[in-house]
Amino acid sequence: MDRLVVDVNGCFDPAAGGIARAELDAIAPAARAAFEGFEARRRAGELGFADLPADSAVAEASVRLARDLAARFENLVVLGIGGSSLGGRAIVAALAHPFHNLLPRERRGGMRVFFPDNSDPATFEALLGTLDLAETCFATVTKSGGTAETMAQHLALRERCLARFGVEGYRERCVLVTDPAKGALRAIARDEGLRALPVPANVGGRLCAVDDTCTHEEASLSTGVLKGELVKCPLHGSRFNVCTGKALEEPAEEDLRTYPVRLEGGRILIDLREAATPRAPPRA
Ligand code: FES
Repeated sequence: MDRLVVDVNGCFDPAAGGIARAELDAIAPAARAAFEGFEARRRAGELGFADLPADSAVAEASVRLARDLAARFENLVVLGIGGSSLGGRAIVAALAHPFHNLLPRERRGGMRVFFPDNSDPATFEALLGTLDLAETCFATVTKSGGTAETMAQHLALRERCLARFGVEGYRERCVLVTDPAKGALRAIARDEGLRALPVPANVGGRLCAVDDTCTHEEASLSTGVLKGELVKCPLHGSRFNVCTGKALEEPAEEDLRTYPVRLEGGRILIDLREAATPRAPPRA
């Protein structure tokens, strides 16, 4: 198998704007402590993603399924929002031809791959209107099975596939990627006899914790609208990224406070020490 090689030599050349050895030495103890903490959690089975490259069973099942689909279909649409889309996207960007989807089949060596990563119905409809459904299969990716945008797109496609190809045609075209045991998507896989690949239970989705109170005035953001990573304030419409806390749309100008989160033994632990630090009152 070919290996990727990343040459970082230039990064350590101060003359080229890189990091000096002394700077690296200064952060080495903190980096070592962080690495050892990470390793301890990995060994305890808490952080599964670091061991994924060694999980040959899931990799082989994925490759088998991909080959089977590629032999029958021309297009693969990956339904997923945020990280559920970005993983596949990163692999295609890193390993495939930069214009993979434009190449003829014999040069591509596989299906064309589309990542809508967008809940906008007009964009989704435009994509479906461009592809021949008879030549298209779908991978629906959500670890929890509860991502509303992904599930809405899955159900829209399910309806079209059932109407045009019947139950068997729907089953042939559809693959789910979700929790191995629980969640709405796993239940659909069982009830509808669909093929499903597991996201290992100790490979988490993304957990984020931010203040609930809008930084503009005192509206509660949990009563607003959440779309992917963006929450919209119910009062005057400011938007924030719930993972970075960034204020993305006025009238709010100040970011939300974010808190470290970790998963431990099935419990979500949030470090709220930062919450004890007073911050400026919201603008009137
Ligand atoms: S209170 Fe949130 S935008 Fe005004």
